[in-house]
Amino acid sequence: MGHDGGATSLSAALALRAELLGPARTRVLTEAELSHAGRVFHGRPEGLSLYGVAAPSMVGRGLRLLGRTAIECSVDDHCAPFAEALAECLAHEPDLTPGYVADLFCGSGNVGFHLRARLGLPVFAAELDPAVHAATRHNFRVLGIDVDLRHADYRELLACLPPPRPGDVVVVEPPWGAALTPSGLDVAATEPPVPGILADIRAARAGVPCLVALQVIVVGADDTTTRPSLRRCFAGARHLLAVPAPASFATGATVEFHVYAVS
Ligand SMILES: C[S@@+](CC[C@H](N)C(=O)[O-])C[C@H]1O[C@@H](n2cnc3c(N)ncnc32)[C@H](O)[C@@H]1O
Repeated sequence: MGHDGGATSLSAALALRAELLGPARTRVLTEAELSHAGRVFHGRPEGLSLYGVAAPSMVGRGLRLLGRTAIECSVDDHCAPFAEALAECLAHEPDLTPGYVADLFCGSGNVGFHLRARLGLPVFAAELDPAVHAATRHNFRVLGIDVDLRHADYRELLACLPPPRPGDVVVVEPPWGAALTPSGLDVAATEPPVPGILADIRAARAGVPCLVALQVIVVGADDTTTRPSLRRCFAGARHLLAVPAPASFATGATVEFHVYAVS
């Protein structure tokens, strides 16, 4: 679903997506493959950029990115404005005094990386896929990124976090899987579903409010699923922030971060 001055076709993008989530799912991508993915999905090779390192430089810097993570990651162009917006938002919320960020579905860890850099909070992260965990642990070591990354299910991480403080930031980005359809993203059908994750978060925090952050895709003007499903899942929570990505895809789809205060 990328754009390349209009040159990248939707079918080519979907074919590459299927390849990277299928046969190349846990394979480390080459420099050429990373640049190609950047071009197809983000309009230019450098659009695929993590930890401040653009796709054409990743291999030379010793980084490892797997096929699935090249698709699933939140890129710098979106994470950096999101971290900035969240910092500004927290500056106007004196009752929210977060002590940490928990990145429950770490993947590349780029969301936690940017939140750590902007908020200055310790980051704890969980990643279940052993191949993704190994690649991300490697990348963190190469770049000296200080994130406490566990090879664990998100529920194990929830069970061993520091004592909760109001406004701790919990990043919830489970794989979309079959939840993404031509009508949008049903956040109640991610793998695992967001409502169950919210129940686990609430149980772990025993009434201390936190900020739940997640990224969703809006597939276009005809999207009838994404926002209604968000409203249903977060009924009763305060919607604090919506941060659209600066660039949209050629198909009209765009991604946006949302933050809710959840008690
Ligand atoms: C959509 S990706 C996360 C993308 C991430 N925000 C990034 O910027 O790279 C979801 C990740 O969650 C991992 N995952 C799936 N189920 C999990 C679970 N139960 N606990 C922890 N991680 C899980 C997957 O292996 C995958 O790497």
